[in-house]
Amino acid sequence: MRVLVIGRGGREHAIVWALSKSPKISKLFCAPGNGGIAGLAECVPITELQFDEISTFAKEQAIDLVMVAPDDPLAAGLVDHLESKGIEAFGPRANAAIIEGSKVFMKQLLKKYSIPTAAYESFDAYEPALAYLRSQTAPIVIKADGLAAGKGVTVAQTMEEAEAALKDIMVGQVFGASAGASVVIEEFLTGQEMSLLAFVDGSTVRLMVPSQDHKPVFDNDKGPNTGGMGTYSPLPHIPESIVQEALVNIVQPTADAMVAEGRPFKGVLYAGLILTPNGVKTIEFNARFGDPETQVILPRLKTDLLDIFLAINNGTLAEQPIEWSEQAAVCVIVASPGYPGPYPKGLPISGLDQVQDALVFHAGTAVDENGQIVTNGGRVLGITGLGKDIVEARQKAYADADRIHFEGKHYRTDIAMKALR
Ligand code: AMP
Ligand code: GLY
Repeated sequence: MRVLVIGRGGREHAIVWALSKSPKISKLFCAPGNGGIAGLAECVPITELQFDEISTFAKEQAIDLVMVAPDDPLAAGLVDHLESKGIEAFGPRANAAIIEGSKVFMKQLLKKYSIPTAAYESFDAYEPALAYLRSQTAPIVIKADGLAAGKGVTVAQTMEEAEAALKDIMVGQVFGASAGASVVIEEFLTGQEMSLLAFVDGSTVRLMVPSQDHKPVFDNDKGPNTGGMGTYSPLPHIPESIVQEALVNIVQPTADAMVAEGRPFKGVLYAGLILTPNGVKTIEFNARFGDPETQVILPRLKTDLLDIFLAINNGTLAEQPIEWSEQAAVCVIVASPGYPGPYPKGLPISGLDQVQDALVFHAGTAVDENGQIVTNGGRVLGITGLGKDIVEARQKAYADADRIHFEGKHYRTDIAMKALR
């Protein structure tokens, strides 16, 4: 089969890496890809929202399957576009990807079907939103409705911070007019977080192994939120009964609700969960693989990833064998100086050839005119160590993270420590 993956980050590098092991694939392409993906797939200079260019390329190259990895093209309907041209695509259609694309939609769905989530109100005008906010107390959570590159959520510790966030979203429109047209104002919940991803084909749900992300930029969860500074899997300190509770109370009922709403979800459904003293609750749903969750999940998958994608598309997911390794995986993100704020690009990266044990997934890299690999994004590399347990996987990830250099690189030093304390 000839397969095209859409996207350019560490997640896409991990997906391409997993697919490159499939004996069924004769040719892999990635659009647009990055400096690391280029070693495994032919990168084509087409970007994620160039729908016509993508479908034309897929026709010309006789592509058998297009795997759409990122949120933006899914929400904008790339899968629908490809299907309308007779091209097979993996991922949810726009009417299902809305579970990530609109937080208001997601909250209303969960409320309608009594699926556990934080209490909330939503607003499509600033004045009533502000009046409601002033009737609440901090801490409180303010969320832009639409996609905001992972930055649309403010966990406000003070009312001043909350009012500023609301104003930025609705008046300043810092995430754009459409993403900021509505807001969700939500109850603040406390507890450990868990990313529970599932392969979903309508009402068939097959959980992946659980993982945990680290969103704040600094150790001990300090500093502003990022796209994710590191992940690990499994979660030895979280009992299997909690995962089952999440499946039975949240993930399965949500898949069933989407079917009942006439929006069957086909693809990867990502539940962002929080383990509160009152049970597991939903923080968010994503309509795709997580980044950097994928960089610890797929290295643990023993089954051919392509077989799972095809089973979802053929409606045979329930019968598809899916096997996971017992190994632990820890991914440390190495970031650009200044990230998640403004950062320079084009810094030369050295030491990639010194890496010993870990998998190196490129997130924001490019190859410059001299053939040198340089930084090209905020999150630059994800270094995944594998081992018999979290301690060994961590040690391998950090040993190799230290072998790689660029000016001003930084990473969290406490990834996976929540499992060890
Ligand atoms: P999201 O972009 O929806 O994943 O939210 C980013 C982060 O904000 C989450 O990973 C949580 O750490 C935090 N967060 C979101 N909603 C809540 C909430 N209701 N209570 C506490 N923390 C939250
Ligand atoms: N790691 C968070 C996300 O992919 O949304």
